[in-house]
Amino acid sequence: MNKNLINIEDLIKKYKYKNESLLILNKINLKINYGDIISIKGPSGVGKTTLLNILGLLDSFDAGNFSFDNTNVTSLNDIKKNHFRNRNIGFIHQFFHLIPELNVIENVALPNLIYGNNKNESFKMATNLIKYFGLNERKLFKPNYLSGGEQQRVSIARALINKPKLIIADEMTGNLDEKTSDEIFDFFINEVKKNNQTLIFATHNNNYAEKANIKLTLTKGKIEY
Ligand SMILES: Nc1ncnc2c1ncn2[C@@H]1O[C@H](COP(=O)(O)OP(=O)(O)O)[C@@H](O)[C@H]1O
Ligand SMILES: [Mg+2]
Repeated sequence: MNKNLINIEDLIKKYKYKNESLLILNKINLKINYGDIISIKGPSGVGKTTLLNILGLLDSFDAGNFSFDNTNVTSLNDIKKNHFRNRNIGFIHQFFHLIPELNVIENVALPNLIYGNNKNESFKMATNLIKYFGLNERKLFKPNYLSGGEQQRVSIARALINKPKLIIADEMTGNLDEKTSDEIFDFFINEVKKNNQTLIFATHNNNYAEKANIKLTLTKGKIEY
């Protein structure tokens, strides 16, 4: 069973910088099926983050088609887009992007509260996830009082709490030391595989890229398989 989740056709993305137009993605085609685990490599500045942000509905594009689970996401307005993202996509960033004023439980619970679950239920789910992620003793801490590895575990829990159809990870271990990075990545990818989730991740680490079923490289605006 290879049910299609994402279909991108001839997608073009340009940035304007002063009077220059930078062509970042040049008619890209990409299909993602449920259960795919996809890695993206490519030199710094090639457009990995740009592509992942478009997939995560965090950035727009200039031409082409993009459907997500049979929804044409190009035509969604901002409110519908935010709603769609909250229900379907979990994003993990290199620099964690946790909310500094919120403690660990609150950070993890937030997407589930936005989803519409009540506070008791959301906090219970968050607490269980936190425990499972080995962070029980840190659950009332604010992000600034956590190590990088702990912060990234929190951000993984936050990305997973709504059981998204697609998980996007942009150099998620790029800001961690090698040992912590290996621990976090192994834990994360095992979790994703165990749950049969769909993942696309950008990395500079060849060992991690090799763990994917589909290995992509971005070069000069094109995807190479
Ligand atoms: N908002 C922006 N305006 C202009 N240029 C941008 C903007 N964001 C990114 N870029 C440029 O687009 C290119 C691709 O960036 P990015 O997607 O972050 O690459 P990667 O993640 O592969 O390192 C880079 O050359 C970067 O400078
Ligand atoms: Mg990047």
